[in-house]
Amino acid sequence: MNRIKQYFKAKKAKIYEEDYKFLMNFLNEKELEYFNKLPVYEKRHSLDVCYYLIDKYGVEEYDLLKAAIFHDIGKIKAKITPTKKAIAVILKKIPFLANLLERPVYFLKVYYNHAEYGAEICKEIGLNERIVGIVRHHHDNNPKDENIIKLQEADEKN
Ligand SMILES: [Fe+2]
Repeated sequence: MNRIKQYFKAKKAKIYEEDYKFLMNFLNEKELEYFNKLPVYEKRHSLDVCYYLIDKYGVEEYDLLKAAIFHDIGKIKAKITPTKKAIAVILKKIPFLANLLERPVYFLKVYYNHAEYGAEICKEIGLNERIVGIVRHHHDNNPKDENIIKLQEADEKN
């Protein structure tokens, strides 16, 4: 999905009754507590990534589905609104400026490093090593792990 579409989707994101039902079944209390720290548009995105994977690959890929729910959990370390996200994405296209501003501008640091932060948070939640690994590497270039390839595809389409 292109970035402009993603921006407007985020602006009107909602969570529905059936999403809550799914989450109550799929997550334990601690996992739910962490998931609820995400802003509504990140929850919507994570759920849509997870549903996409269920539709395409089935529910037997438990670790992949958990990783989908938590892949962007690192973003809870800062308040990253859709507008700030758009700034971070545009800035990334000017690498020297992105590198320069990443240190003083906290939300940029969190956005650019959210995969790493997310992996640490997944450990804190008690998720297994495989899930932690998928989250840590979900933005790697040319991944070899089949689960990461699937997650990147789902992330891109949602
Ligand atoms: Fe991400």
